[in-house]
Amino acid sequence: MPKILKNISDVRDFTSLYNLVNRRIGFVPTMGSLHDGHLELGRRARKECDCVIYSIFVNPIQFGPKEDLDKYPRDLKGDLEKLDSIGTDAVFFPDESIMYPEGFSTYIDAGETANILCGRSRPGHFRGVTTVVCKLFNIVGCDQAYFGKKDMQQFIILNKMVRDLNIPVELIGVDTVREKDGLAMSSRNSYLNKKERASAPVLYKTLGYIKKHLSEFAGQEEAVQKAKEMISEVKEAEIDYIEIRNLKDLSEVKNFRKEKHVMFLAVKFGKTRLIDNIILN
Ligand code: PAF
Repeated sequence: MPKILKNISDVRDFTSLYNLVNRRIGFVPTMGSLHDGHLELGRRARKECDCVIYSIFVNPIQFGPKEDLDKYPRDLKGDLEKLDSIGTDAVFFPDESIMYPEGFSTYIDAGETANILCGRSRPGHFRGVTTVVCKLFNIVGCDQAYFGKKDMQQFIILNKMVRDLNIPVELIGVDTVREKDGLAMSSRNSYLNKKERASAPVLYKTLGYIKKHLSEFAGQEEAVQKAKEMISEVKEAEIDYIEIRNLKDLSEVKNFRKEKHVMFLAVKFGKTRLIDNIILN
């Protein structure tokens, strides 16, 4: 079983041995309730690093007041068994009081990229993500950190954060792991009822269709319109946003044919909001 580290000093003692002999530390930050997408990050870290550390921490400051913090799925026992199966060395599993002791008041503001797409529907979400990830990087002192590309906006924002703040960690983006029917793996899929679960693959089907037929659309507006039409056909689906943005910095796409761009979407099925994306060109 991986070693469980509850305190910051436990993590520092553990990593100091690896640092002493110049070994590479790979880190996978998570909120637990692990699925194969999370494990894929660790498998990649296992190949590239000498030591693999996960964190499991449901970060309260990235949830809005009306979001699912209290009912966010938690399964430490199951998580540890899964992490053991891929050869994880240690898991940082702090209490909230360790991460946010009384008087905590310093946050990282990721700028405009944090206010678009998911940031528009979830004000303050990315401020919570950047703050906790920066703290985790400072605690773990990893060389490489692994993130799923399902959360592409998060990955782009965190890349900007490490550049802007000169944090010496290399971020590795790992391709989205999907169920057999194309639905991107997510801890939130467990909230879907039978009907919603049966409808949710429309997201990846739509993204795949738009990518395949990209040359047939006159421009991005037409591509977005087509995606909206396809998803609206499903009764259970309520679109939050569908947008095409520049892959590098999430800016608006000016030259649809030349710039490398991504279609991002967020769609609600009942109370469950799912996100997905695809690199189009
Ligand atoms: O992607 C997630 O699970 C979370 O946003 C992260 C990166 C672990 C920060 O809490």
